[in-house]
Amino acid sequence: MVEKFYVTTPIYYPNDIPHIGHAYTTLAADVVARWNRLLGKDVFFLTGTDEHGKKIEQTALEKGKTPKEFVDELIPRFKEAWKKLNIKYDRFIRTTDKDHEKVVKEMLQKVYDKGDIYLGNYEGYYCTACEAYFTEKDLIEENGKLLCPIHKKEVELLKEKSYFFKLSKYQKQLLELYEKNPDFILPKKRRAEIINRVKEGLKDLSISRTSFDWGIKLPFDETHICYVWFDALFNYYSATRDPSKEKFWPADVHLIGKDIIWFHTVYWPAFLISAGIELPKTVFAHGWWTFDSEKISKSRGRVINVDELVSIAGVDSARYFLMRATPFGDDGDFSEKSLIEKHNNELANKLGNLVSRVAGLIEKNGVEKTENKLLEKLAINEIKEKMKNYELDKALNDIFAFIDECNEYIQEKKPWETKDKKVLYELADSIKAIAILLWPFIPETSEKIAKGFGFEIRDLEQINKPLENSNIKKGEILFRKIDLKQKYTQD
Ligand code: MSP
Repeated sequence: MVEKFYVTTPIYYPNDIPHIGHAYTTLAADVVARWNRLLGKDVFFLTGTDEHGKKIEQTALEKGKTPKEFVDELIPRFKEAWKKLNIKYDRFIRTTDKDHEKVVKEMLQKVYDKGDIYLGNYEGYYCTACEAYFTEKDLIEENGKLLCPIHKKEVELLKEKSYFFKLSKYQKQLLELYEKNPDFILPKKRRAEIINRVKEGLKDLSISRTSFDWGIKLPFDETHICYVWFDALFNYYSATRDPSKEKFWPADVHLIGKDIIWFHTVYWPAFLISAGIELPKTVFAHGWWTFDSEKISKSRGRVINVDELVSIAGVDSARYFLMRATPFGDDGDFSEKSLIEKHNNELANKLGNLVSRVAGLIEKNGVEKTENKLLEKLAINEIKEKMKNYELDKALNDIFAFIDECNEYIQEKKPWETKDKKVLYELADSIKAIAILLWPFIPETSEKIAKGFGFEIRDLEQINKPLENSNIKKGEILFRKIDLKQKYTQD
């Protein structure tokens, strides 16, 4: 039986411009999905938008639109951005999709019937930008105002009747979950923080609102609408309720940013345990892209949107930079200059040169099939292990170490002098392996290489099958170097 693999991204608030932060998670999910396709698995890759909640309602009203009209206009921006970045998801879920709303209602009813939801009074500080409550100790005080620690915006004091989810009841089961499943929270360094906070105790969670309308009505009390995070988190599950998709649950990995780790590693498993549903295997939280160490986001006024990102040096260079420049899991400071440097030094000089030199020499001299000894230098098992552990940057390091080996091999064997067709075959067959391994990261480039070298990218097994084609063509230049000096003196 073919193994399944299910990867998700957070569903984004559609009133933001798709920027480098959203692109980062979605791109990582695309890389992980493509990698698992290469492993021969049946992959389901889900992304989408989080469309209910006060924030959307407020913005729509300011613009004189209904929330639904407003969100409908925004969705194409996300779809276009993912297309531009060559991201191939299997479903784009919207929390306004009917099948999703139906599942959320069923889940609310299930949790209610279990006795895990009760009516109470809520009073607390709320940040609309986060769609989250804060206790006073977590807020920043500035000029007599209380500000949200993430958005640095003033919070509101909300008082309302609200239904509560008995989160406190799940403290022990959550701690057991983290204990028994060391991979539930990745990277490992984030586990301790969550475990400590859960140990400090959990308060019941307000999961309904009456102060606005834009959301899913509670099935047992239609005067309340469902808290946006309960609604949103269930997207991962509702996308698998179609009979053809049921096999994909539980998710293999929810990729998220570290800002929303609490929602995904505490609320989400608690909701699922309450509803009697199997738990996802891993929640992986990556770091933030920053400018001068401040998180990039629209509400702080400094963003790099997807169009800008792609316009610097092309799609594959943007994809490569985001995955390579910083360890997956850590923060990274964004700079256009370092993107161009990676484009020039690694993609153009190392990969691009290798491919065009080898193709050029083969066009002139031909190849002769032989055993590819060079392939022994490829750390394939390490690469597989790193990809399995979501060490995406480290896997790229190993692939590039092999590119270096190939470049050194040319220098050492000098096939332009010796015209050694066997050496050229080894290089061509190694380039095949490189193109396959890089396909999840830079698919367009890998496909161009594959075309020139006469093979199709299907799976990792192909690496061990010798290249059959001998009619190799020097195709177009893969990466044109960008003159950094000229660029920055012109500005
Ligand atoms: N709608 C919620 C998620 C619900 S998931 C059930 C939400 N949306 S969001 O539009 O604010 O997107 C949050 C996600 O975008 C983060 O978790 C992260 O994946 C990504 N990023 C947004 N800004 C980021 C950076 N500056 N750097 C890296 N990623 C960040 O929260």
